[in-house]
Amino acid sequence: MQDWQRSVIYQIYPKSFYSHGGQATGDLLGVVDKLDYLHWLGVDYLWLTPFLRSPQRDNGYDISDYYAIDPSYGTMADCELLITEASKRGIKLMLDIVVNHTSIEHPWFQAARSSLDNPYRDFYIWRDQPNNWESKFGGSAWEYEAQTGQYYLHLFDHTQADLNWDNPQVRAEVFKMMRFWRDKGVGGFRLDVINLISKPADFPDDHTDGRRFYTDGPNVHRYLQEMHREVFEGFDLINVGEMSSTSLEHCVRYSCPASRELSMTFNFHHLKVDYPNLQKWVRADFDFLELKRILSDWQVGMQAGDGWNALFWCNHDQPRVVSRFGDDGEYREPSAKMLATALHFLQGTPFVYQGEELGMSNPGFEHIEQYRDVETLNIYRLKRNAGVSEAEAMAPIMQKSRDNGRTPMQWNAGPNAGFSRAEPWIGVPANAAFINVEQQQQDPTSVLHYYRQLIALRRSEALIQDGVYRLLLPEHPHVWAYLREGQGERLLVVSHFYGGDCEVELPEGILTDSTKQRWVIGNYEAGEHRYRRLRLRPYESFVLHLSD
Ligand code: GLC
Repeated sequence: MQDWQRSVIYQIYPKSFYSHGGQATGDLLGVVDKLDYLHWLGVDYLWLTPFLRSPQRDNGYDISDYYAIDPSYGTMADCELLITEASKRGIKLMLDIVVNHTSIEHPWFQAARSSLDNPYRDFYIWRDQPNNWESKFGGSAWEYEAQTGQYYLHLFDHTQADLNWDNPQVRAEVFKMMRFWRDKGVGGFRLDVINLISKPADFPDDHTDGRRFYTDGPNVHRYLQEMHREVFEGFDLINVGEMSSTSLEHCVRYSCPASRELSMTFNFHHLKVDYPNLQKWVRADFDFLELKRILSDWQVGMQAGDGWNALFWCNHDQPRVVSRFGDDGEYREPSAKMLATALHFLQGTPFVYQGEELGMSNPGFEHIEQYRDVETLNIYRLKRNAGVSEAEAMAPIMQKSRDNGRTPMQWNAGPNAGFSRAEPWIGVPANAAFINVEQQQQDPTSVLHYYRQLIALRRSEALIQDGVYRLLLPEHPHVWAYLREGQGERLLVVSHFYGGDCEVELPEGILTDSTKQRWVIGNYEAGEHRYRRLRLRPYESFVLHLSD
């Protein structure tokens, strides 16, 4: 095991984290201001979503200059200060690298679009005729450029043009840029939708949206090995690849040390359990058995192949987990702690997304005017143009919009939740009055203190890193129970995913009279469990260390 495999990563969405300058959006100095808090929490790395220069059409995932800080976030000096101050506290910074595409305002694209024979033309992907692929943000994946009479590919918004990775000059520019940031002292990279960078040369039409052709595409492993050689080899750097619609087999290849590609991978299969027939924009409950099955398959499969999972419930593209798989009303606290327990004892590297450690919930915005996200606004427009009623269009948006996870971090009960002096760029949920850092730091039973304990346990309980994962009771409709087994010892992790009481009978041989027990953590009072038959309270979760 390498040291980073015991670490916990905290994700910051700087726009909504803390505004040092007091303006409507957060900034880098705001992160510096909060480093003591993050150090107290115990995290090892900070992944900041993009703060490089960008027209902010997709909140920074549309970069127009890879070497400059967006003025809304501060200056290069602020960034250097952040790296230095974080490292004084033993914390490393992870930069978000967006290189599947650039903003169309990037000078490369500006040059490329100017004429057919411009040297930068081949930095992007152009065709005389579009194929039928769809953009992940709705509509066609191709945009017509009148000046040169061709279409360019954009798998996301039409202002995010896909780079042509088959062009060696593109790869050389990307690696050069990554070395620049490496030399500035960042400790790692998060690679945005990195499994989409390699497209098939013939761009075939599809009977669905085209993703099967460009996901984990023909040369992706080769390009990532090249990146490893050019940027990572010989340096103490970690990286996590964001993998869109990927497969277990590919993630093993991306992340097993023998491949020399990446440290670990994010995948999203477990977050599609409330997408009926893979449709996101439909309001639906989540399928618990499917959730348990998917997470278990990935534990077993990645372990078998020597891969490494990035573990997460939340990020800036997802609704809040307590609203999604827990209960953001009466049982908010126990369900937030239960979800944290279920995740933090898995093998991999846990990511905590700002505010998750407080049990922050979806804000419940009812009107489209309250939303800011380009994906949400695109979908709303497409639905309304297709004749869908206001109420029907809003129902899935309230449940699934990415803005659910983008509201300001709730620091205290004061104005704007202590996030900024000016009115924030997006609304602050009313529950900031009672869900906030200041209050939870003072309360040792809070969700926040619980996360702090979980983060510390990752270093002290060796089985969390290397124990073999075994799912118990796969068919139980309410409880996820699993073991992490080592030589003569194991962790038993039991999590009840629903309100109400529930009975569960563990398989024979796990809790016997002679088993030695040590309480590790739980969201109700500590206690012994002597019997196979357990009675679980609403959202109850606990972990026992068992030895022969
Ligand atoms: C990733 C980012 C998301 C962004 C998209 C396009 O999925 O997490 O926020 O919109 O890539 O860059």
